[in-house]
Amino acid sequence: MKKCVLISGASSGFGEACARRFAAAGHDLVLCARRLERLEALQEELSGRSRVYIQHLDVTDRQAVDGFLPSLPELFREVDILVNNAGLALGLAPAYEVDVDDWEIMVDTNIKGLMRITRQFLPGMVERRRGHIVNIGSVAGNWPYPGGNAYGATKAFVKQFSRGLRADLLGTPLRVTNIEPGLAETEFSLVRMKGDAQKAGDVYSGTKPLSAEDIAEIVDWVTSLPAHVNINTLEVMPVCQAWNPLAVDRTLGNDL
Ligand SMILES: NC(=O)c1ccc[n+]([C@@H]2O[C@H](COP(=O)([O-])OP(=O)(O)OC[C@H]3O[C@@H](n4cnc5c(N)ncnc54)[C@H](OP(=O)(O)O)[C@@H]3O)[C@@H](O)[C@H]2O)c1
Repeated sequence: MKKCVLISGASSGFGEACARRFAAAGHDLVLCARRLERLEALQEELSGRSRVYIQHLDVTDRQAVDGFLPSLPELFREVDILVNNAGLALGLAPAYEVDVDDWEIMVDTNIKGLMRITRQFLPGMVERRRGHIVNIGSVAGNWPYPGGNAYGATKAFVKQFSRGLRADLLGTPLRVTNIEPGLAETEFSLVRMKGDAQKAGDVYSGTKPLSAEDIAEIVDWVTSLPAHVNINTLEVMPVCQAWNPLAVDRTLGNDL
């Protein structure tokens, strides 16, 4: 059945790959992000296969997000699948050195943006008794690592918010899924390293990371399962990634 799929952060990485995947199945698409020229190119590419509406949207702009649903053409207002994908990490500095503005941007984007978009589209889904919210969390929401401080905390929010939504939606046919990718090669590291391509490349060098298409395949799978099946949380890493042993410092000796 043809569905209407809204993807935030569709201008690159997972969001863009999800758009291609859903377009291949002929679904209607609402794509938003800040880089409109990227969305325009994607719209042109996909338009033969599905109806694509694009919208400049900064998810940290409260007014823009609150006006988003009413601004959509009627044809695209009844969203069936909301992929809350827009997000970012900024920097890897330890908490005692971090630029606190980076923390604020991550909170505004990964937490507040996701909440506000969800709050906008959820009532319609409940009313129509139809809908699936797919949040893009991260392994960073489960496993702390040095420099992951606020980013990991925003993704821990996404995990618990997703569970809270499930609790609220019990008694409706709506579904909520939190996908938690590990190392994946997109523009994510370039953004995190603030445009330093060398540092971003080092993150993936010598590895076979997840691709954006891997994540799109998973999003496609969880949303096309039989209507009574809800994947609550799906954590996925490439085979080359696992956990570190617990860290033990030996430099302080017995001095404490
Ligand atoms: N790659 C990984 O290793 C990895 C692992 C786990 C989780 N994730 C998560 O996966 C999601 C997608 O990331 P990605 O890996 O695909 O990285 P990406 O290629 O950098 O894509 C991020 C997307 O988010 C959008 N975005 C960022 N800030 C935004 C804002 N204020 N308003 C609207 N859109 C915004 C960007 O679009 P514009 O810049 O055009 O606005 C872009 O389309 C993020 O939530 C990220 O935290 C990534």
